[in-house]
Amino acid sequence: MSSFKDLRIVDNFYQTSSFFPMPTVCISTVNEDGSLNVGSYSLCFPYYIAGKDRYAMVLECRNNSNTGLNILRTGKCAINFITDERATFKEAVRLGYPGPSKEKMKDFKWPVEKGLADPNDPERPLVLSDAFQVFECTWARHLEHAERFKVEDIDDGYAGPYNDFNGLTSKYGAHYILYIDKILMKEKYYNAIVNGVTKKDFPNVPVDYGYRDSTNFWYTQFPRFKKPIAEPIPAPKEVDLGSIRFAADRIDDTVKFTDDALKNFVKVPRPFLKTVLNGCVAWAKENNVTLITDEHVKIINDKRNKEKQERK
Ligand SMILES: Cc1cc2nc3c(=O)[nH]c(=O)nc-3n(C[C@H](O)[C@H](O)[C@H](O)COP(=O)(O)O)c2cc1C
Repeated sequence: MSSFKDLRIVDNFYQTSSFFPMPTVCISTVNEDGSLNVGSYSLCFPYYIAGKDRYAMVLECRNNSNTGLNILRTGKCAINFITDERATFKEAVRLGYPGPSKEKMKDFKWPVEKGLADPNDPERPLVLSDAFQVFECTWARHLEHAERFKVEDIDDGYAGPYNDFNGLTSKYGAHYILYIDKILMKEKYYNAIVNGVTKKDFPNVPVDYGYRDSTNFWYTQFPRFKKPIAEPIPAPKEVDLGSIRFAADRIDDTVKFTDDALKNFVKVPRPFLKTVLNGCVAWAKENNVTLITDEHVKIINDKRNKEKQERK
């Protein structure tokens, strides 16, 4: 017998049929008359994280919301990550109440400033000065030919036909794949990420529980007296040299490795071994090396570390 009950899956299952921990962000966009709109969102997650030419987020939103319409028109938005104070979340819930932008924004008092991506572009929205980090984004409207959708086509929702993953995806729904143009980070957290994060360096993030009822949004604050817990990543298991030699001998006809070179890879997790060996072979070919030694691996590692530092 199962220890679980089988709960019916209904619309908005992440709010109605589950507890689903999510971020809370306030998305700024530019209205048609040039004014600023800020709407609250939780369904906003990393989408392209590596291996593509750009990094991207995905936002799931009501297609006739101010945010949804503004992204459709301008292709620009800023994802502002707010902190967890009661007053801040209260304002986020107010900004999350559906209605005309003008009505809610007349009482909007949060400080705003220009971002760092194209500061002279009038369609680049201002960002929230109190956010601990901001992603400035551009909608990838060419994906799934989502440029075909027009604001004028949305009346009581959109009648279709719908896209599957980018643009207007159902009568009232939209998914926006948002390229990240800039990550803006408050200095304290910037320094922590660049110089090494300690327990004291985490922003006070709100966690939206997902679940809500007709009267309340539920969220929790960053614990005030406890610090984040560091849970060590398991130590890499050492693989025996024989199996690394087996893989290395099959990577390339002309480039080979010495045993000393291969000893550097005993802690490389198995799924990444081929990639690492291929990287060494590519370097060897560029440098006319046919036998990769321990020395060469050290040079390759130094080069990789330098490139990583430069990307930071
Ligand atoms: C904490 C919080 C999270 C929300 N998350 C979402 C979401 O992920 N997607 C969505 O469509 N609406 C979400 N809403 C509701 C929107 O904020 C609401 O539709 C609002 O009208 C959007 O503002 P806008 O029309 O100015 O864009 C959320 C509201 C709150 C308070």
